[in-house]
Amino acid sequence: MKKYLILILILLSGCIKKIERNPGQKMVIGFSQCTMIDEWRKNMVGEMKREITFFRDYNIELIVKDAGDNNEKQIADINDLVSKGIDLLIVSPNEAEPLTPTVEKVYNKGIPVIIVDRKINSSKYTAFIGADNLAIGKEAGYFAEELLKGRGNVLEITGLKGSTPAKERSAGFHEIIDKFSNIKTVKTVEGAWLESKTLILTDSLFRVFNDFDLIFAHNDFMANAASKSVRKYNLKPYIIGVDGINTSTGGVSMVINGFIDGTIYYPSGGDKAIQLAIQILTGKPYDRNMDLSTYRIDNTNARTLWLQGRQLHDQQYKIDNQSDQLNEMSEVLNKRRILLLLTYTTIILLILTVTIILVSWKHKNKMNKILDDKNKTISKQNQIITKQRDDSLDLLIVAEEARENKLRLFTDLSHELRTVVTLIINPIQDILNQIHDESIRNKVLVLQRSSERLVRLTDGILKFRSIENNKYHLTFFTGNITQYIINIIDTFREQAEKKEIKLITLTGSEIFAEFDLGVIEKVMYNLLTNAIKFSKESGEVSVSLACENSKIIIEVKDNGVGIPKNELPFIFDRFHKASNPNYISDKKTIGIGLALSKELIQLHGGDITVKSVINKGTCFTITFPQFHNHSNSKVNNKNAQIRELGIDFSKTSDKSKTILVVEDNSDLIGVITDILSKYYNIITATNGKEGLNTAIKKGPDLILSDILMPVMDGMKMCIEIKEHPITCHIPVILLTAIDSEDNMIKSFDIGADAYITKPFNEYLLLSNIKNLIESREKMKQFFCPSPSFRSLLQTKDITEGDFIKGCLNHVYENLENENYTLENLSQNMSMSRSSFYRKIREVTNLRPVDFIKKAKLNYAAKLILSNDNWNINEVSWKSGFSDAKYFSKCFYREFGINPSQFSKEYLKDKDLIPST
Ligand code: FRU
Repeated sequence: MKKYLILILILLSGCIKKIERNPGQKMVIGFSQCTMIDEWRKNMVGEMKREITFFRDYNIELIVKDAGDNNEKQIADINDLVSKGIDLLIVSPNEAEPLTPTVEKVYNKGIPVIIVDRKINSSKYTAFIGADNLAIGKEAGYFAEELLKGRGNVLEITGLKGSTPAKERSAGFHEIIDKFSNIKTVKTVEGAWLESKTLILTDSLFRVFNDFDLIFAHNDFMANAASKSVRKYNLKPYIIGVDGINTSTGGVSMVINGFIDGTIYYPSGGDKAIQLAIQILTGKPYDRNMDLSTYRIDNTNARTLWLQGRQLHDQQYKIDNQSDQLNEMSEVLNKRRILLLLTYTTIILLILTVTIILVSWKHKNKMNKILDDKNKTISKQNQIITKQRDDSLDLLIVAEEARENKLRLFTDLSHELRTVVTLIINPIQDILNQIHDESIRNKVLVLQRSSERLVRLTDGILKFRSIENNKYHLTFFTGNITQYIINIIDTFREQAEKKEIKLITLTGSEIFAEFDLGVIEKVMYNLLTNAIKFSKESGEVSVSLACENSKIIIEVKDNGVGIPKNELPFIFDRFHKASNPNYISDKKTIGIGLALSKELIQLHGGDITVKSVINKGTCFTITFPQFHNHSNSKVNNKNAQIRELGIDFSKTSDKSKTILVVEDNSDLIGVITDILSKYYNIITATNGKEGLNTAIKKGPDLILSDILMPVMDGMKMCIEIKEHPITCHIPVILLTAIDSEDNMIKSFDIGADAYITKPFNEYLLLSNIKNLIESREKMKQFFCPSPSFRSLLQTKDITEGDFIKGCLNHVYENLENENYTLENLSQNMSMSRSSFYRKIREVTNLRPVDFIKKAKLNYAAKLILSNDNWNINEVSWKSGFSDAKYFSKCFYREFGINPSQFSKEYLKDKDLIPST
């Protein structure tokens, strides 16, 4: 038996979904009310709400829906509540049958369902609360029998027939009265629980029918309607109702007022429904069917009940008030709780922050200590490294010094050798002229060639030194490079023929280019010598010349022994000795030729590259720009008058230019005049002093001067010319027999524009003169530069020269613009102020303000020299000086003479003024 009980319990617990909720956890209760039209229903909802306030610990939400006596509306309400996610459904169904499937569906979903007051036609619900309507009907039956004393006619007004209370109340009533044969139910009408409907019914019924002694209405609302009609028709039947609400219009009052004779108390049970719901939701035990007690109310107890009701009402009112207060307090409490929580959180956060800061601080200290230790180690290592670096630097310096000493030794030796070889070469030529014996002559010829080779070797070393010291100056000519290369190749024909080597020249149409004769000659000589030397007997050496994209490309190709691959990257290194005994490392070479060639071509703005395959041959490629940026000269092929080397003198051969030749040797004056007079006016002087005076008086376009002369030598004269404001712009070429690097350097240092050794190459001389006159023409467009300024413009760096000229252009364009600032100038030069400042310092060694001042003063000097009617205010203003006094001061500082004296001194003879 016990076993079965346990089994039943287990089954029951399985069927009824056990939902356990904690206080505080939210519970949503949906209540579907069949109608809210009457007080009884409103009272039920009021009871529910009040009851919820007693369960403050539970977070209960009650959603109430009013179906308005409509089955369809109630079905929709229930579905809506379910979709809202209710935890439990309380339903008072309007009619049993139509509502049953919907309520079953909710129950089947696992949502607990409590049925109140009216029932459904199914047991699929969680619990039922309500009074026993059958018992109510019976009590009404007993009451009727007592009132009728066993005899009389009864009129029954029923509730909505589809609702269970109507059925049960009717059944209970008849169960009793039907036992008395003298009591007859003469009429039954359906009032459907509604007072309004019943009033219409009874009003029309009583007009035609009044044969009844007692009316049993299933509720007090319908009983009230019947009472109204009874009084209207002055009838006196007994009236019994159901409900007995204790309000001013409820059943209890109706009894006291004598409208009805009695009523059966029918509690709504709203409070009980909430209690039951909480029990279910919190998993506590509950009764599935809860019968609410009921009793009869008549004139014996109505007054007592009324008074009790009032007390109850007062207490309820107090309870409601307290509940409101409690609500307010709980709200305050909640706010305080939140505040407290916030305070606690802040305190905890503060403690946490302080802890973190402390921990980080400790960690930082620890890390700092580690870092300090590391820093100490690093600084120790740094010291070691610095020491090692200093040691290596010392070693490097020692090595560099050793290298320098070695090179100096080479240079000194080369100088000595060159002097000695020059002494050998000159007598050899005399001897050759006197020897007629062929065999001796051949031997002397070998001597001559060897001596010449020695000269070239020593020259190579000297050139290197000048490149290394940045003292190697290129002189560019614009001319027919094709012809020049052919001439060089031709000098190798004899040598090639001896080895039966085919010397091929591959040149197309004549190409004009800007080039340094010496550089191209040396490089070509070096490459051709190597090509012939390393070609096999009956081999082939070819030279091609082309111009592509404004670049001159010369290829020197042989089909000789070739250079090993591993040697190729080093063949342009100075003093490199190749491992291949057949190439470069030939005993006769010291390995300087290719390195020198490369340096020279690089100086020329180009490069030499090599490709070689062993035993197949080698190809050297020289490239350099056809024209250089510093020059705008472009040769018009048609008009070009080509002399030997194809150089165009047409521009300067109109004899408008005058050259002053200063030379003490009258024969040499004759030779030079002979060469130059075809193109220029020639004036002469026999020593430096005479030269200087003539230069001041005649203002020639160029001075060609010997160095060694009586009275005043060429160097001294050159210095004077360059320092004199009248002659400072005149280019000077120094001509001397002394082929010494030192002399050359000295010449440039004192401001000479070119240096040519005797015996000079006629063509070289003419080209130099032409270039200098042309470039001076351009410079004159700017101004007559002071000596110090002139040196700025003579910078050998093309880009720097352009930079200075660019600056001057902008300064001169803005002389009269008072607002023109350094800022504007740097902007015009497309440079930032700081980089412009740096560049000016770098190139001129002047502060930009001083540079501009110098430029303005030079311009002023030019203005004065170009106009004898000048006025100091005008000149100062036109030169960009707003204050004439300040201008005079600056002018004096720059030229050592004030503007008016300058004008008197140099405007005596207007012919002296350099043309602008
Ligand atoms: C209220 C009411 C009551 C009655 C009950 C029956 O709507 O009509 O008067 O006792 O319903 O369900």
